[in-house]
Amino acid sequence: MRATDVIKGFHHITVCVAGAQEDVDFSTKVLGLRMIKQTVLFDGTAPIYHLYYGNADAEIGSVWTTFPFKQAGIYGRQGTGQIKTTGFSVPTGSLDFWAEHLTKHGVAHDGIQERFGEKFIEFKHPSGLGLSVVGCDDDPRNAWGFDVPADKGIRGFYSVQLAVRDLEEPEFFLGHVMGFTRVGQEGPVTRYAIDGGGYNRIIELYHMPDTKQGTWTFAVGIPHHYALAVANDGENKQYKDYVEGFGYTDVSEIKDRNYFHSTYTRTPAGVVQEVATSDIGFAIDEPADKLGHQLLLPPWFEDRRQEIVSALEPILVPEYIR
Ligand SMILES: [Fe+2]
Repeated sequence: MRATDVIKGFHHITVCVAGAQEDVDFSTKVLGLRMIKQTVLFDGTAPIYHLYYGNADAEIGSVWTTFPFKQAGIYGRQGTGQIKTTGFSVPTGSLDFWAEHLTKHGVAHDGIQERFGEKFIEFKHPSGLGLSVVGCDDDPRNAWGFDVPADKGIRGFYSVQLAVRDLEEPEFFLGHVMGFTRVGQEGPVTRYAIDGGGYNRIIELYHMPDTKQGTWTFAVGIPHHYALAVANDGENKQYKDYVEGFGYTDVSEIKDRNYFHSTYTRTPAGVVQEVATSDIGFAIDEPADKLGHQLLLPPWFEDRRQEIVSALEPILVPEYIR
């Protein structure tokens, strides 16, 4: 078995932002994503929102999820061992629009840049998280098209870039263990392609040998993990057994995340790699055309609903789900 027998691309990416309202506004109005789920962090005891955004179809590989940690007052330090930049796929011809759109919303950027023959714009989420829009012309997925026109919008993920102090072990993990293809290197960036590459299947190592390890805990401005998609629990178990067979025993048991089942692996890059199933989905507890309309709790938290809801700051959700 090889990991690429079961892993075909990203499932979701999860980060810790600052304020909940600031995140809702940025993710929907600036990134133009569709808000698809309001729930809470399943781990720990302090009530923290877990907000999910995606493309028009709430598709696996487009799901950007955030924990607004400002409420808990926990702040982090960016560094190596973390996701440096999350890249979203947009049409190349829309990059001029994006440069203007970001400027209009007061988001600083250095304009259109190019690497590996691809054009992109880098910018930051208000909480300091690194983001980019990457020009990709063969991505058939549907952008939401509410605050950003559908023909210019984000269709889902393009790539994830990890900041690493050392390249050797992370390269061994991505190349030899995960079986991703080493595409090449340009400046500090080494690129790997998951299952042939293309949108939703690029993972990069950004070599920062002089940068300290960043915060591993949940904290404002800290990306928590990237998740890769498998079909079901059977495939997740196959992946877990396979990775453990190399000696990477830091793989969690399969956890019930209500919308998917997940294992978590601490990789040699320092970054957490989740592997999540695709056979449950976001329409398990609300209709597919009404995703994100209400605060949903997993069944095992329902008896604490009042306590949880009263501890969360109220948020004003986008017009289309009010
Ligand atoms: Fe996750």
